[in-house]
Amino acid sequence: MHWQYVSLALGSAVGFVFEAMASMSEQSIACAVEVMQQGLLNRYQMDAGAETNYLLKTERALSKYLNMKYCLGLNSGGSAIFLALKCADMPDGALVLSNAFTFNAVPSAIAHAGGRTVLVECTDAMVIDLDDLEKKAKASGAKYFVLSYMRGRIPDMDKIMAMCDSLGLYLIEDSAHAYGCEWKGRKIGTFGHSSTISTQANKVMNSGEGGFLCTDDDDIMAKAIISAGSYEELFLKHCDLSPPRELMIKYRMTRVNYSIRMTNLQGALLFPQVAQIDIRRDKHNAIYEELVRRLEEHSRITVPPQLPEVTPVYDSIQFNVSNMQPAQVPEFQKRLKEIGGKKFEAFGLMENARNWHTWKFIDGLDDLSLPKTDAAIQYTFDTRLHFEMSQNKIEEMVRVIHSSLDSLSSDKTSGLASALDNEAKNPEALIMAGA
Ligand SMILES: Cc1ncc(COP(=O)(O)O)c(C=O)c1O
Repeated sequence: MHWQYVSLALGSAVGFVFEAMASMSEQSIACAVEVMQQGLLNRYQMDAGAETNYLLKTERALSKYLNMKYCLGLNSGGSAIFLALKCADMPDGALVLSNAFTFNAVPSAIAHAGGRTVLVECTDAMVIDLDDLEKKAKASGAKYFVLSYMRGRIPDMDKIMAMCDSLGLYLIEDSAHAYGCEWKGRKIGTFGHSSTISTQANKVMNSGEGGFLCTDDDDIMAKAIISAGSYEELFLKHCDLSPPRELMIKYRMTRVNYSIRMTNLQGALLFPQVAQIDIRRDKHNAIYEELVRRLEEHSRITVPPQLPEVTPVYDSIQFNVSNMQPAQVPEFQKRLKEIGGKKFEAFGLMENARNWHTWKFIDGLDDLSLPKTDAAIQYTFDTRLHFEMSQNKIEEMVRVIHSSLDSLSSDKTSGLASALDNEAKNPEALIMAGA
């Protein structure tokens, strides 16, 4: 039996009605088998420019796709954000503006790099709030800005760039969820000093774990290659993707080696996937449009819109439910799981890693107030979407969501009882009641 079918069979055996992760294509499997058979799992085991250096080939393909000079494979998207900050020569303890609505890996990468995150509100369209960005930048004096396109949601980039100019902000784009997206036809990931992506399992490209740092800047890439774990003359193996030799020599003994390289095996899995980004984007977007149309037939469901200038990549969907009580959030989530067999994220839950209240490693977090973000996420639910979702699966998902919502107790106290019961069993599962 072919691997692809094994994974599908396993998926259905454990009852995942909405399989969200891409299984590997024949081409990815063939490239991976080739490097495994030859034992070429490390990018530096081969001669410069070897055909089997799939990581280099993936980096080239990605730089070409993004129309950027440089691209470097790393072990995760979080490492890529960390390294982007290190290559900005950010002083220890510097303040870094970033989204209050994103995944905990983002403020974690900032903390890992020695920065202190200044959280910026999100709007009800789930993008960074520009007024709050300006206010926080001025009040804090922060000069670094990690802009996270959480769930592929893109703010007004003209305004962002104007604000970065006027406030003197050093911009790093976290495009973990947004590669393939465009603003007025320009690729997301090409606006900042550098940008990062993730190829962790449920992203548009999947290598299990992985990430990339992209930039047009010679110095940033020279530092990045050295700090990722390139020593002595290994930089020569980056061939045309290496900055000039004198820069590599300048940095190779002065920069810390963080040992965060990507393997050639991941490069092999990814190489065929680069050519699939736009194909997957079109498939995702067609599925999403249909899903939104059908979901919004329910009077209590709305899907936050994006600006018309955005070319999106909808590999996930977020929807808001109106007239809900805080206690009904876990109840709805439970019904979705019972009826559909799949966990939907409830951003409003206090156990959700995308809820800023859970980032307790940020100094002074408990004294922070971000009411707009709380309001935007409190009744928002989310799930990943597979780019091969059939019409039947779309219908099934709509049915599960609609019927789970309709099955919620209209008696608010009963919803509360079930939530309190849940909380008693799991004290971490606090609800944002009114927060
Ligand atoms: C918005 C966002 N940025 C960055 C990351 C970090 O990616 P990784 O898991 O590859 O470290 C993630 C992880 O899913 C993410 O959701």
